[in-house]
Amino acid sequence: MTFLHLKVYTYRFLIFGVFVMMLSCDSKISETSSSNYPKDPVENKIDSILSTMSLEEKIGQTAQRGKSSRVKELPKDLKDAVRKGQIGSFLNIMNKEDAKELQRIAVEESPSKIPLIFARDVIHGFKTIFPIPLGQAASFNPSLVQEGSRIAAIEASTYGIRWTFAPMIDISRDPRWGRIAESAGEDPYLTSRMAEAYVKGFQGEDLASPTSLAACAKHFIGYGAAEGGRDYNTANINDNLLHNVYLKPFKTAVDAGSATFMTSFNDLNGIPASANSYILKDILREEWGFDGFVVSDWNSIIEMVNHGYAKDQKEAAEKSINAMLDMEMTSTSYHDHLKELIQEDKFSEKELDKIVRNILRIKFRLGLFDNPYFDSDDTILYDKKHLTAAQKTAEESIILLKNKNNILPLGAKSKIAIIGPLADAPHEQLGTWTFDGEKEHTITPLQSFKSDDEYMVQYSKGLSYSRDKSENDFGDAIKTAKSSDIILFFAGEEAILSGEAHSRADINLPGAQEELITELHKTGKPIILVLMAGRPITLGNIKDKVDAVLMAWHPGTMGGPALKNIITGLVSPSAKLPVTWPKEVGQIPIHYNHKNTGRPVIPEEFVHMDSIPIGAWQSSLGNTSHYLDAGFLPEYPFGYGLGYSSFKYSNFSISSTNPKIGETITVKVLVTNTGDVKAKETVQLYFRDMVGSLTRPVKELLRFEKIILNSGESKEVEFTFSTNDLAFYGPDKKWITESGNFKLWIAKHALDEENELEFILE
Ligand code: NOJ
Repeated sequence: MTFLHLKVYTYRFLIFGVFVMMLSCDSKISETSSSNYPKDPVENKIDSILSTMSLEEKIGQTAQRGKSSRVKELPKDLKDAVRKGQIGSFLNIMNKEDAKELQRIAVEESPSKIPLIFARDVIHGFKTIFPIPLGQAASFNPSLVQEGSRIAAIEASTYGIRWTFAPMIDISRDPRWGRIAESAGEDPYLTSRMAEAYVKGFQGEDLASPTSLAACAKHFIGYGAAEGGRDYNTANINDNLLHNVYLKPFKTAVDAGSATFMTSFNDLNGIPASANSYILKDILREEWGFDGFVVSDWNSIIEMVNHGYAKDQKEAAEKSINAMLDMEMTSTSYHDHLKELIQEDKFSEKELDKIVRNILRIKFRLGLFDNPYFDSDDTILYDKKHLTAAQKTAEESIILLKNKNNILPLGAKSKIAIIGPLADAPHEQLGTWTFDGEKEHTITPLQSFKSDDEYMVQYSKGLSYSRDKSENDFGDAIKTAKSSDIILFFAGEEAILSGEAHSRADINLPGAQEELITELHKTGKPIILVLMAGRPITLGNIKDKVDAVLMAWHPGTMGGPALKNIITGLVSPSAKLPVTWPKEVGQIPIHYNHKNTGRPVIPEEFVHMDSIPIGAWQSSLGNTSHYLDAGFLPEYPFGYGLGYSSFKYSNFSISSTNPKIGETITVKVLVTNTGDVKAKETVQLYFRDMVGSLTRPVKELLRFEKIILNSGESKEVEFTFSTNDLAFYGPDKKWITESGNFKLWIAKHALDEENELEFILE
């Protein structure tokens, strides 16, 4: 077909299209009168509520308040405010009777009888605590994550909670940032898969079910890019990076049906996220069609005064409301100023109606108008099934990073010295953001080993907590080690050292843990280092002194039995790193999906600074992108993790080496368990777009699949993707898939290039 033919054809098609549109519009008009064209019944109900609501009540729906946990009684002014319709939501009301009473006042005594929605940070479990989200991401098992968040919702809803401030899906490339613990790590694809799993788990099959929680994709956006990993700090993210990396998981959250979003504390390229209409209006609402509501973070609207973006709280409210930020968490700038702003024509009541509509829509979808109360029977808490699921998730989140001479798993009858501040720390192993988890229900590794007669256990804490610098108890620990066959050293960070506002500039083991490991190493007994922490820990000073390293993150309520099963070999470790693990803090940010640069590293030419001759000439070392001291490699790459078996990949195939844009491509590989034990393997598929109209990362995770194989068993793994999955947000500010050369790797981790395939996209 010639170009002219194409033009004529397109033109005819357009005329025909317009004709069809006119016909269909006509038929709609003839069915109903134009003004009451049938709408979604929920929207009709909202119309009728809005038509009778006073301006004060509308403003009231935008308010989220909390109650200080130090105040026992429900304050009278809070009840009065609900009675007047001045509050739309509460957070952190943890007394069931209070929640019921507030709801009763709202639905029986307030003017429009609109139910309240109760929110809470249910991040990785409610009472039954699952591993921290970074650990859950390490499972590379979205269905486990979905099951865990379903359980969290079932438990939390017995307290009247119907909205959780999770998942946190900020891309995190900086382990200094304390909130990396709450993230799914550095990769947009893995984080997207996790986002989807959390949303589906929290929200269940039907948001109206009394055990469903509205999810909240947070923090929109750029919080994880905080400068230097310092919490709350500035994020400068160019449009390319924003779309190709940071926004991706949030788009997935919208597609998965996340009912709400939360803005972030940071400013993004100079404009605080809580008043950023580019992200809140242009992208979230217009481009993505999000129809839930957006809540600010805690005081993040009024903090724009500190940002220097608003001169006072009134101006802050004006800026946020004009960016269509629907609900204000804790601060009261909307309550105090919206009426005045509307009177001054700085915002319109019509626009406010849109905001109230967004909030009411979610209240309807949650079924709160039909069933505002909740079943407070909490006998389901810590249900056996919940504990089993928490244990399974912990088992799948523990990464084996080092295993010299296959020292793990431990043989039975070993005489074990259990040492270290995290061996029996029931509160610490729960991790950050566990307001409701109770240490009395935690099973620690020490308890697990002690309760099994197969193992002869001696215990010496050595250090009483992770930051402890006192060497007073070293002697006892060394004595215990000397009279044992092997040392299990439980090291790491207490829960309080990661999470919000808990960034660290030095990510070595805190306190005197390294010193104690050094002393124990001198005993000559093998050391298994088990880390419990909210972030990767730099191991340079100790890694050669230990024989095995297990990263358990903060593994939650069932961390003890999970670790025991891994250490003793009942379960083969199967988790993989969701973040690149640096050797030194100075390498940060370090992530696998970096750009190639004009002078990529040439490994053979790298000269460490200790080997540079004295008086060396300026250009004698070559000019590539690396550190003279830390080199160019991380300690462990993204996607890395060992197990007790081994896997062979063979019989690779690709459906086409010359696919056309728009085609579906299938890649197959035969995976064989060549080891002696049944084990799980996560097969990872990476790609590289070799030449682009924007420079592209050296590698991007495209798919992964976790399979289980018996010893000797083989299975074909098939990955299917469309060429749209290779698209990127290009220089024209549009998503494009460009033709040209691509590489694919079927890999065990991000640096594994053994199995490479190529294709040319036409
Ligand atoms: C501040 C945190 O940034 C946010 O993630 C959390 O949900 C709110 N506080 C409420 O606790």
